[in-house]
Amino acid sequence: MQNRIDEHPILGEFKKGKKITFYYDGKKLEGFEGEPIAAALKEAGVMVHRYTKKKHEPRGIFCAIGRCTDCVMVVDGKPNVRTCVTPLKEGMVVQTQYGVLAEPFEEQ
Ligand code: FES
Repeated sequence: MQNRIDEHPILGEFKKGKKITFYYDGKKLEGFEGEPIAAALKEAGVMVHRYTKKKHEPRGIFCAIGRCTDCVMVVDGKPNVRTCVTPLKEGMVVQTQYGVLAEPFEEQ
């Protein structure tokens, strides 16, 4: 799958960090060091980052500039991390978030 933009007509070519592994809901995935967590997840086909508390509705990347909070997830045990503006690091543990109080999402 190729969901990354490698070269942009206005912004030019993007330099990638070294290839690293991280964990998404227990699955081992690969990404590039320093890219937004959300970019690595999108490349892996992950579209849902969290579920709303009341209606259990899925949310994912919306603004992609750190403003809307639709992309928040639990990262290394810390809730409400905006994955669209948080750089990916080796060995990170990223979990789908349920609600605003940030329990990791578990299949029911
Ligand atoms: S997509 Fe809006 S804050 Fe990340």
